[in-house]
Amino acid sequence: TLVEATTGKSRALPAANLPEDCNTIERCCMPRPYTGKPGIRSFEFPKDQPTRIRKPAQHLDKAYVKKLEKAYKILRELPDSDPRSLKNQMNLHCLYCDNGLYFPGHKYPLEVHNGWFFLPWHRMFIYWHERILAKILDDETFALPYWNWDNQSPEPPFGNTIPEIYANPKSPLYDVNRNNCSVPPFVVDMDTRTGCTNKTSDFLRVQNTRLTYSQIVLGGGTPSLFYGLPYRKGDFGGAGSGVFEDQPHGTIHAWVGSVDPLPGRRPGDDMGNFGRSAFDPVFYAHHTNTDRLWELWLTKIPGGQRTHPTDPDFLNSEFTFYDEDANLVKMKVSQVLDSRKLRYKYAEMPTPWITNGL
Ligand code: C2O
Repeated sequence: TLVEATTGKSRALPAANLPEDCNTIERCCMPRPYTGKPGIRSFEFPKDQPTRIRKPAQHLDKAYVKKLEKAYKILRELPDSDPRSLKNQMNLHCLYCDNGLYFPGHKYPLEVHNGWFFLPWHRMFIYWHERILAKILDDETFALPYWNWDNQSPEPPFGNTIPEIYANPKSPLYDVNRNNCSVPPFVVDMDTRTGCTNKTSDFLRVQNTRLTYSQIVLGGGTPSLFYGLPYRKGDFGGAGSGVFEDQPHGTIHAWVGSVDPLPGRRPGDDMGNFGRSAFDPVFYAHHTNTDRLWELWLTKIPGGQRTHPTDPDFLNSEFTFYDEDANLVKMKVSQVLDSRKLRYKYAEMPTPWITNGL
């Protein structure tokens, strides 16, 4: 059963009781028993943690890349009984969005996409992913890099291709299930549903800049346009995405996923399918940038500081994760709306799409 966090008429999502609440067909389920302590603790803000700086993936030094590679090598090698393994991180994402979790007494599975939980849930997911990597590396200052795909600069190193470090087939950051046309130097096509394109790089730079502007600056005029429509306990799927969940966030997923899958894989694997996307390490760099754009939207768009939805069902909803020690922890949406309290920030990169076009 789920831990009931809510009372009265509230339809805030209660924290799932992982790993038990996985559905009967064992879809995307987490290991049972898992390696951590029983019980779910409530998240509290870290007190003595250094602020971690998330940097653009095209500008990392060699020593950092080595560490990142080491962390993913270890993540890949962790046993299936460990919820921190890359496979289980994939399953955890799958669980929250691919018909994995059912609330007792409710007909429909939990869905964190296509609605107002998209941004906060993924912030939580990469927060814990980052804590796990930091623990593996025994480095409190370690932060995820971001894939700077909103940067259409024509000068290398490029932000708008898959970062080189994720494209080396010998690296643990590589994933075999990708589209051939998503390999650098191909520029990301934010306006595609699948794979290859015959648009030129120059065309794509202009198109991508316009799209980023139209979605994030023009399209995100109110919290509800930006975050997406309400999703409450018992709802059937998300009712409507915020303005950049589908495009460019979703189109970039689709662009990376394979068109001709390897045997045993489906078209779109890995990045293009909910159930498998978090198996590709570039997923985390993609979501770090998605999170960064949320941050930019809040603070940098002309017109001043923007705000969050204030509906209590949004603020009080809770989600369960595995922390760096594989212990269960639940987090409220209201706890992740200010990234400073989570002790990370983003190294700045130019954002000409906000005001000056190219
Ligand atoms: Cu849960 Cu980028 O998707």
